[in-house]
Amino acid sequence: MAETELRAGGDPEAAAVAARAARLRQRFPTIEDLRARARWRVPRFAFDFVDGGANDETCVERNIAAFRSVELLPRYCVDTKGASTAVELFGTRYAAPIGIAPMGSPGLMWPGAEQYLARAAQRARIPFVLATPANESIERIAELAPDVFWFQLYRFPHNDHAITYDLVRRADVAGARVLVPTVDSAGKSKRPRDIRNGVAVPFRFTPKVVWQVATSPAWAWSLLKHGMPRTENLVPYAGPDPTQVSTARTMQLRSGGSHTWDELARLRERWKRAFVVKGILHPQDAERAVALGADGIVVSNHGGRHFDGAPASIDMLPAIVAAVGSRATVMVDSGIRSGLDVVRALALGAKAGFSGRPFLYGLAALGPAGARHVVDLFFDEIRTEFTHTGIRSVAEAAAIAARHPGAWRAAGEAPEPRFPFLPTTP
Ligand code: FNR
Repeated sequence: MAETELRAGGDPEAAAVAARAARLRQRFPTIEDLRARARWRVPRFAFDFVDGGANDETCVERNIAAFRSVELLPRYCVDTKGASTAVELFGTRYAAPIGIAPMGSPGLMWPGAEQYLARAAQRARIPFVLATPANESIERIAELAPDVFWFQLYRFPHNDHAITYDLVRRADVAGARVLVPTVDSAGKSKRPRDIRNGVAVPFRFTPKVVWQVATSPAWAWSLLKHGMPRTENLVPYAGPDPTQVSTARTMQLRSGGSHTWDELARLRERWKRAFVVKGILHPQDAERAVALGADGIVVSNHGGRHFDGAPASIDMLPAIVAAVGSRATVMVDSGIRSGLDVVRALALGAKAGFSGRPFLYGLAALGPAGARHVVDLFFDEIRTEFTHTGIRSVAEAAAIAARHPGAWRAAGEAPEPRFPFLPTTP
């Protein structure tokens, strides 16, 4: 019996899956390996749509550099056998403190993306946040990922928020565990790569686009299989014959702006389950969101896709944890590229991290198997970094001593409050 089959308890199918996972770990040990393969495997306009950011993309770079600059002081001589990466968020237990961030139009990067991501999240028991402008509907994702499905909400001010409230109703009926209104899409953003590539509504099949598709056979095959991606959640509001163009246009024309504080308060009243505001960077905004009843915050700059001047979200995390961490669940995204980054976020006070682009790099590089591979990479690395930092649970991670040179601090605060005053607990 082969070693993988032995480990899979003699089940040849499980052994084949394990053997494939082992091969992928060998060939693509990092997210950057997947990104490099994705770059040549999908049409340029699709890769750039996901990979790019606003303006000069300094915020995209800042996010990644800021995570990497955080040092964690290791602790040794600790038996971490039996450590658990599980975390409870809003009454649900997840297998690890990493979730899949909401992403609109992911079908551009890999047709059928959400089906694969939702299934991988359900299997691994990690949160999957469906975006409003997704290419799968709320109802379909509720079938695929019933235990881990959250819904991200944009704002549709037209007709006294009729669409906004209908989306909330549908998410409720479908059983979404958490409602996640995003507040940082305040205005139109400028993404030069998309402008150069002509990514627009309606999508235009220029000779350049046709050439890029023709030279990306795996992507084209997936498109044939799944059809042109529509903005599925907008289907009921896009007229009698909803198409790729009319659903995207409805999204473009009807949605926009940042949910105001009053609107958030009204949403909070309507939604009975957990309510998490995404896209907060200022500690006073976090205070205000919690004051109106938010159960959680995702500290985020939208992966640098909207405002290039924003600080890295990890650099705002400690100030937000200090402001509201005792009353709300603080989470973070933007720039997480490894399990080590997740542990860095935990050490700085987050209860969980979310990752966006890495999951789409995985799909673009490997097809459906890529979703699971990215999950595997995060899980493996989180476990490994638990051993290096000598912790046995997510709760213990908050005691890891961290040096964080880029952290924003309140005026008058000491520059390094957690160093050299090391915590005395292990
Ligand atoms: C996003 N993001 C996003 N966020 C949101 O609240 N609603 C949305 O529709 C989208 N759409 C979207 C599309 C694409 C292609 C990307 C890459 C991202 C932002 C996302 O939820 C998350 O904040 C960032 O992706 C986190 O940064 P990283 O992990 O990609 O660095």
